Amino acid sequence: MSSERSAGDFVPAAASADIGVYGLGVMGANLARNLARHGHSVAVFNRTPARTERLIDLHGGEGDFVPAADPAHFVASLRRPRAVIIMVQAGAGTEAVIEQLSPLLEPGDIIVDAGNTYYADTERREASLREQGIHFVGMGVSGGEEGALLGPSIMPGGTEASYARLGPLLESISAHVDGVPCCTHVGPGGAGHFVKMVHNGIEYADMQLIAEAYDLLRRVAGMSVPEIADVFRDWKRSELDSYLIDITAEVLDRIDPATGEPFVDVIVDAAGQKGTGAWTTRTALELGVAVPAIAEATFARAASSATAQRAAVRAAGINAGTTRPGFATAAERDAFVDAVRQALYGSKIAAYAQGFDEIATASAQRGWNVDLGAMARIWRAGCIIRARFLDDITRAYGEDPQLPTLLTAPVFSRALNEALPAWRQVVSAAALGGVPAPAFAASLAYVDQLRARRLPAALIQGQRDFFGSHTYHRVDDPVGVYHVLWAEPGRAEEKWS
Ligand code: 6PG
Repeated sequence: MSSERSAGDFVPAAASADIGVYGLGVMGANLARNLARHGHSVAVFNRTPARTERLIDLHGGEGDFVPAADPAHFVASLRRPRAVIIMVQAGAGTEAVIEQLSPLLEPGDIIVDAGNTYYADTERREASLREQGIHFVGMGVSGGEEGALLGPSIMPGGTEASYARLGPLLESISAHVDGVPCCTHVGPGGAGHFVKMVHNGIEYADMQLIAEAYDLLRRVAGMSVPEIADVFRDWKRSELDSYLIDITAEVLDRIDPATGEPFVDVIVDAAGQKGTGAWTTRTALELGVAVPAIAEATFARAASSATAQRAAVRAAGINAGTTRPGFATAAERDAFVDAVRQALYGSKIAAYAQGFDEIATASAQRGWNVDLGAMARIWRAGCIIRARFLDDITRAYGEDPQLPTLLTAPVFSRALNEALPAWRQVVSAAALGGVPAPAFAASLAYVDQLRARRLPAALIQGQRDFFGSHTYHRVDDPVGVYHVLWAEPGRAEEKWS
């Protein structure tokens, strides 16, 4: 039985393992265990053998592990076509492992990068390995350490052929909703990592929106931390029900044992980031897609970490003009709490619409043919943004796969109309109270931009034409290209084409 094997006593037995996992940090080890627990024979390798030994010592009894002492043995123990998941540090780490493994592999074999890799790097690696006949799969995996072990949401890109080999294994270990796996073939090339990147961008927006709701409840409604935890628990019974709402209540419940203060008050208020929100924002800028909620969430983390600027502005006493509404009765305060709930839901719809728009735009541009409804379906469980709301998105794309934006799906346009009056009040209260709510405000402005009959973009076109002859179209001739001879007497309009 494999549980009796150790990394040191590798026997180059038959090439029998179904799949290999290279890199046995917590995520890699948990993925390997998940595969083994589902009856797959898993070759395991780690640069530092102690990790392999530890995995076998602690968990070898959970299934069929084939520990390997070096990369050659690791590859030799895999059945053909070979499939290797690498779970090492993104960037240089991934690059080095690919260089080490690719000479040992044969045409038809598959390398899977399960880390958070920038999709353009995945596209580059995929193209170069394709020349050697090796399938390179950029695979998004969401759900953290627990998800990797118990069932993540999995977003593999790459060729159809690679999915034919990998799909049954991956689907068996993913989270499931009513028997439906939270894993599907996303599309060719870097599509899998692209979709995971946008998942994380949405995750940033969702977290920022929840944080803004908390701040408004605390600083405008004057509620205590335990009261706010109760509000989040209450919201769990609404359309806001999600993993992130759940963990928010749990974080707010915690009392710091050292001080007896709410835990949230002893954490330094500077949010970290590993870069996926910035990638999503940067990519949206490159594609020309508006993702203001995701961008604001990313910038809010940066602003929170701008320690020197924050200290300087506080010291300068730039404070004028803030007024907080008073709540004469508990009912008035409750009404504000409910308005925040509605603002949060409206903003959340806007943020997801932006993320799906980014995926749709990239997919159309690159010919990926990503099924947006399927993306919502595989995010319903296992991943960080899992939420009841994703059922509605799945259904919305099921009813109309060509939806121009999620905002117009009947379920969401109705919800937006219900939320908008309260949402406007909340954004006003935040501005008047000097409580920053950039993602609430940007999401509202996004909806207002899309619903506007006319935008001041017309004026911008006029300005551009004035100073740079950048031309404009006329409402009565939307394809003609016009320019005004601004510098000449009479300022005549010319039609250039
Ligand atoms: C997931 C998470 C995961 C990771 C984030 C954290 O889907 O399981 O998104 O990928 O926890 O990358 O990102 P930040 O450190 O940038 O918040």
